[in-house]
Amino acid sequence: AVERTLSIIKPDAVAKNVIGKIYSRFEDNGLKIIAARMIHLSRQEAEGFYAVHRERPFFKDLVEFMISGPVMVQVLEGEGAVLKNRDLMGATDPKQAAPGTIRADFAQSIDANAVHGSDAPETAAVEIAYFFPALNVYSR
Ligand code: CMP
Repeated sequence: AVERTLSIIKPDAVAKNVIGKIYSRFEDNGLKIIAARMIHLSRQEAEGFYAVHRERPFFKDLVEFMISGPVMVQVLEGEGAVLKNRDLMGATDPKQAAPGTIRADFAQSIDANAVHGSDAPETAAVEIAYFFPALNVYSR
């Protein structure tokens, strides 16, 4: 089915100037960018986005990292977009990520891991709504 997923290019990858290279991975693999914005998240915005991880030991470091610089946030649309984006990203820990994946090629560590992608269509809907009012999403 045609799906949508939320993608974030994290501060490490924005600082490395590889937004375009990562966008090409999406476009070359049938994912269309149908909404996008660059933002420097406030602490409150980052904590709200990652609220499901609030009790995890890595939460504080994750939030600190995500507010350390601007991020590029986009909605990707395509056949099986959620899984396709996760395949393109590779494992959360770049040391475990398969060769040729975004994290293997651009990421340093489990915190500075270049990209975020929704883990299921239901989460994608919540995450997309967090950043984009429906009128700012441009499907076909
Ligand atoms: P992301 O897909 O953005 O979702 C939560 C983030 O927490 C994850 O990517 C990692 O960057 C970060 N993180 C740090 N430590 C861990 C961990 N042990 N397990 C999962 N995610 C972690």
